[in-house]
Amino acid sequence: MQSLQSLHTFALPAHCQKLVRITASEQLHAIDFEKPFFILGEGSNCVFLDDFDGTVLQMANRGIDVNEREDHYLVRVAAGENWHQLVIKLLKMGITGLENLVLIPGTIGAAPVQNIGAYGVELADVFSHLTGYHIDKQSFETLDKSACQFGYRDSVFKQALHGRFVITEVVLKLPKQWQPVLGYGPLRDLTECEVDAMHVAERVMQIRRSKLPDPILCANAGSFFKNPMVSLELAKTLRVRYQSMPTYPVDENTVKLAAGWLIEQAGLKGHRIGGIRVYDKQALVLVNDEQGDGEELLAMITHIQKTVFAKFTVELMPEVRLIGRGGEFSKGVEHG
Ligand code: FAD
Ligand code: EPU
Repeated sequence: MQSLQSLHTFALPAHCQKLVRITASEQLHAIDFEKPFFILGEGSNCVFLDDFDGTVLQMANRGIDVNEREDHYLVRVAAGENWHQLVIKLLKMGITGLENLVLIPGTIGAAPVQNIGAYGVELADVFSHLTGYHIDKQSFETLDKSACQFGYRDSVFKQALHGRFVITEVVLKLPKQWQPVLGYGPLRDLTECEVDAMHVAERVMQIRRSKLPDPILCANAGSFFKNPMVSLELAKTLRVRYQSMPTYPVDENTVKLAAGWLIEQAGLKGHRIGGIRVYDKQALVLVNDEQGDGEELLAMITHIQKTVFAKFTVELMPEVRLIGRGGEFSKGVEHG
């Protein structure tokens, strides 16, 4: 048995039967994928609710290769590299484009899985292609951007290839000409002529530190729920009643709501169940600050979903991947 507590940032007291560190992609040929397994990066977007009856494959391969082209850089990065360290390394080399995504925890290999995003930029914007091990075909395959089917916190790796593809390397395409993205709320006052990419990164870090708990100091997994997509009709009805409710248009029929706002307005900021608490600076974040366990977390998820649904008729779905004894499961809202 191997403890998983220090291997996921929510730090619940779980174990797995076996842990295998993947330091070279060829090792994947020797893994028995017929038996239960879970692919792990730095554990910042998954929570082990209980002991996991299987093998955890921890992606730990390393390597960064920067290839200069006429008008862009192609940056080839091994899945086990740390995302934030890559962003800083590239900025120091004068390579821009990832500054809005600074300080997002986790590995490069996990970044395409939920198409990480923050402050107006998402991985898809800087993505070229990736390589990984296709478990059913028992061979390595390269997927381009369209094959990855990126969406909001979504990709083919959460859908058709869920649990069937181990990403081993990601290639980013970063234009030489800096294209600042400063449209997201708190970045708007940074005008293009005053700042460089390092300044933008510093501002993003400052905002993130003011809202989000550092997992090293306070166990958490970032936003716990996805921001819900609702019909334009429901959004309009809610807006009549709650005029300050933030809304983000998606297309002509769909609007994204701010889950953190809904949770706060439902009166749940600071709410505690056992060792689990709704963070008081950002209601979308749950923290495990008093040695909580999986049952308390599940009770908290259900309580939040039911309370928000009762007030707004909006369903919240976890953004974080929840892992039980037999593997991953989803946790939808239970009405009534
Ligand atoms: P893990 O948690 O280890 O794994 C996540 C999922 O990806 C699991 O399903 C796992 O099976 C799968 N996976 C991991 N590696 C691979 C691989 N090589 N091949 C195939 N599947 C794999 N996310 C954002 O998008 N934006 C944010 O602003 C943001 N802020 C955060 C702030 C905090 C404080 C925290 C704790 C988290 C935040 N997150 C954010 C979530 C998290 O940082 C990302 O989802 C990150 O990409 C997870 O990386 P990881 O290596 O920790 O993945
Ligand atoms: N809000 C509240 N109360 C709260 C939290 C938020 O009223 O307690 C309001 C804010 O005032 C704002 C709106 O909700 O009007 C949105 O809040 P914020 O800008 O903090 O962003 P978010 O929607 O809560 C999303 C991502 C984050 C990402 C930020 C910045 C999701 C699920 N979360 O959070 O990603 O860093 O935007 O782009 O999409 C993550 O995925 O783990 C994560 C942290």
